[in-house]
Amino acid sequence: MDDRNHQKIFSPRNGNRRAFLVRWVQWTLAATAALFLYPLFRFAGFKPPRRPRLVDVPAPLPASGTHTSHDFLLFATEDGGARAVSRICTHLGCRVNYLQDMEYIECPCHQSRFTSEGVRISGPAERNLPTFAVTQKVDSEGQVTAYVVHL
Ligand code: FES
Repeated sequence: MDDRNHQKIFSPRNGNRRAFLVRWVQWTLAATAALFLYPLFRFAGFKPPRRPRLVDVPAPLPASGTHTSHDFLLFATEDGGARAVSRICTHLGCRVNYLQDMEYIECPCHQSRFTSEGVRISGPAERNLPTFAVTQKVDSEGQVTAYVVHL
């Protein structure tokens, strides 16, 4: 190799070109990896929408007009239907109870109080209790046989 060719190959200008090519290949590989990995990560984090859980409560409700289950309180309404209110307190998630004598729902943890409609009365909870849709199962004679709570 003569001296002129040696200078041409190892000149600083060629070094810049090589560094540019290396960087270009690195960025291209990174972009390609991101292009393939992004959909994979999105798929891995995908959660299908939750299907509502249906809970049957046999009718009629107890004489008190209230049914207490693990997840909800079911109250008989004046129109013959029922209303379901969550038992999970909106403050820190304790399980609330319905106080029949006082006619309100109270949280045992910090004494937040709610109406039987789930509307906040007092206490540290700032939001109302969630409510759930309730449908009825009727027999062939039109009698309500069960209330179905859609959790
Ligand atoms: S968790 Fe119910 S009031 Fe705090």
